[in-house]
Amino acid sequence: MFNPWLNAVFLFLLCALPAPAADVSYQRDVWPIFKRHCLGCHTDGKAKGGLRLDDIAALKKGGKHGALFIAGKPDKSLLMQQVTGDPPEMPENEPPLTAEKVKILRDWIGQGAKIDAAPKVVRPPVVIPATYAFAPAVTSVSLSPDGKLAAVAVRSEVVLFNVDDDAPPRRLATDFDLITHVEFSPDGKRLAAAGGSPQQFGGVIFFDPTDGKRQSSRRVGNDTLFKGNFSPDGQTIALGGSGGAIHLIPVDTKAEAKAIELHSDWVMAVAYTPDGKQLVSGSRDKTTKVSSVESLKLLRSIDQSADIINAVATDRTNAISAGNARTLNGFDFKLALAGAEVTGSGNGARPVNNRDQYLRAYEAQPDAVMALAISGDRKLLAVATRAAEVRIYQTDNRQRKSSVVKAPAPVLAIALNQDGSRLLIGSKTGEVQVFETTTTKLLKSFIPVPVASIKTTAR
Ligand code: HEC
Repeated sequence: MFNPWLNAVFLFLLCALPAPAADVSYQRDVWPIFKRHCLGCHTDGKAKGGLRLDDIAALKKGGKHGALFIAGKPDKSLLMQQVTGDPPEMPENEPPLTAEKVKILRDWIGQGAKIDAAPKVVRPPVVIPATYAFAPAVTSVSLSPDGKLAAVAVRSEVVLFNVDDDAPPRRLATDFDLITHVEFSPDGKRLAAAGGSPQQFGGVIFFDPTDGKRQSSRRVGNDTLFKGNFSPDGQTIALGGSGGAIHLIPVDTKAEAKAIELHSDWVMAVAYTPDGKQLVSGSRDKTTKVSSVESLKLLRSIDQSADIINAVATDRTNAISAGNARTLNGFDFKLALAGAEVTGSGNGARPVNNRDQYLRAYEAQPDAVMALAISGDRKLLAVATRAAEVRIYQTDNRQRKSSVVKAPAPVLAIALNQDGSRLLIGSKTGEVQVFETTTTKLLKSFIPVPVASIKTTAR
């Protein structure tokens, strides 16, 4: 029987009762809050309080105080305790979440804290412009052994060009935000481009320099890789990592990539010793270290600089390192490693104590050293500083042989070919230059990518 009165009462009750919370979706409602307000401090690279909110497994695990939430019990959940209160603890040093957002989090936990789908971190795809608005900085350079082919890295692409003719440069695209290292293999048959995207991935791509085709690629870890070096046999590339490790990445994609954990900060550069058995690494932690390729262990911390190390190299008998401290030092590795044993822990190796015996210092540098390059025969060393000068030294007597004095400063990258007859320079200004080393004659100078407006000094 239809009773309008009862019906009205029913409707009234329905409206007066608090509305049941709408179904909260993790993906649609909760994730955007974490993404907007929390990820700055709670991701893989930066997990404050031991808590990551960008990964489902980590989210379920919680932080250093344990579980983030108890499903069904918002008021007993750490998450709610942190985002409420006067003022709330989180987001730290930022305005509190709105009442609406707090309610979403509360309802989500109240409804069982279900995770309907993994968060999708939408990253803007890497775009390589046909024409750049301004010349992008050249971040790394390499010369083929004969010095005829040059490879330079600008942002997400590698540009290959011939030094001796004006054939149009070839542009090789990558999906890296930034390429930090390019290098021809010692036989010149392969070209490596390494780098990655900050807080996402590190990686290396191997190209065939003759046709520019990708041979293989590999991703390593979750942050950009830094400068490194091909092994003398060309089978592995060693690259610095942001976590303080050296990454050893074989060209053969089926072979396992390895890591040597040894620095407490970014490894800025790595170089193989000529026999391929050891690695010299320089770090933002200001140390220069030698480690074993076979045991993957630290052999010795050979130097502690007053400032960040930006570049390392090896000649036949010395490790060479330099950085912001304006000193350029060689270290005789045989003497430096005498008595050093593989220690197992990696960090208990002998401290630097007889440094005076193995130090082979070069002349002081005019400014912070940004890059080093050694010729394939290891007889010449090129040094780029923030000053507009690139110096070339003979490694046997550490004497200066020549200098390029009006380089487009700051020079970020340099390379020599096998016999050291040619020097390639890459600048922050976007310019690339090739010189003959003995005469310092300029062979080529240009901006390797199309640029809409060349910045000129205002008059
Ligand atoms: C500006 C940095 C920053 C932001 C943004 C931030 N947090 Fe935190 N968070 C921290 C720090 C630092 C700690 C560690 C505090 C401590 O241990 O004393 C922490 C700790 C926590 C903890 C405790 C973890 C544990 O087990 O100890 C929770 C929960 C938390 N944050 C949640 C959040 C949420 C949710 C957001 C976003 C609404 C957020 N945080 C945003 C810096 C931040």
